[in-house]
Amino acid sequence: MKEANIKCKVLSNNEIAKNIYEITLQGNISGIPGQFYMVRAWEGLDPFLSRPLSISDIEGDIIHFVYEVKGKGTKELSSMKTNEVVQLTGPLGNGFIIKENMRSAVVSGGIGIAPMIYLLKQNHKMMDMFAGFRAEPYLIDVCNAHSKNLYVASEEGLGGYKGFVTELINVEDYDVIYACGPHPMLEALAEGNKDKAILYVSMEKYMACGIGGCLGCTIQTRNGMRRVCKDGPVFEAKEVYFDE
Ligand SMILES: Cc1cc2nc3c(=O)[nH]c(=O)nc-3n(C[C@H](O)[C@H](O)[C@H](O)COP(=O)(O)OP(=O)(O)OC[C@H]3O[C@@H](n4cnc5c(N)ncnc54)[C@H](O)[C@@H]3O)c2cc1C
Ligand code: FES
Repeated sequence: MKEANIKCKVLSNNEIAKNIYEITLQGNISGIPGQFYMVRAWEGLDPFLSRPLSISDIEGDIIHFVYEVKGKGTKELSSMKTNEVVQLTGPLGNGFIIKENMRSAVVSGGIGIAPMIYLLKQNHKMMDMFAGFRAEPYLIDVCNAHSKNLYVASEEGLGGYKGFVTELINVEDYDVIYACGPHPMLEALAEGNKDKAILYVSMEKYMACGIGGCLGCTIQTRNGMRRVCKDGPVFEAKEVYFDE
């Protein structure tokens, strides 16, 4: 499907944990788990580029994004009020390939939980969820409602297991694993996996156009140069060099 420019109305925009917001928008949206939109919440050219955010949930014409405030773009987004307008371009990227009737796990690190909510909801109670955080956990109730089993880790010991989420999962228990989070987490999963399970990783790269035209998000893979925005963001881990 061709990406579209869509104007959406803000329904709500709330801080759900320290520096973590959930914004709910209404408009003519669509998309599958793992896809993303380029989001623009400001007039004018500063910041120049729209910012990529993963679809965290879709219900009819309502879309949810969960985002961490990092710099100017996400700060602007966090200041959006009910009934103001946000510009979206998308849906973009490939999304997750769902393997049915397989032992499936979802692994997230930090804000990497955002796209996994939609994945879990679309596969209600079919997948085990491993959610890792540096500090306080968030979105735990919704994960609990839609996962088969939920395992939570916090590096600072603020909920669930104290340590890394990768210490909680036994990859050999699964045929397919979907992961989104910091590169060291993805790399640790890939190393533990030894290619036994199908491991899908959602990659993050700084993006300019978001639609495959500028090559700004290109990564070197075992299958040559690939654009994260167009060929990804979801790749099979065996294709990816994590130390790039
Ligand atoms: C496909 C995709 C989906 C994403 N989905 C989400 C999501 O659902 N929720 C969410 O919170 N974030 C998500 N991100 C990351 C998000 O796009 C960035 O955090 C955001 O663009 C930062 O913009 P900013 O203007 O707030 O910060 P900036 O001022 O642009 O940057 C702040 C700091 O973060 C660094 N940075 C910015 N973007 C990236 C990046 N992509 N990778 C590594 N470092 C970066 C900058 O170098 C700088 O140090 C996603 C990224 C991609 C590529
Ligand atoms: S951001 Fe332009 S090609 Fe990916």
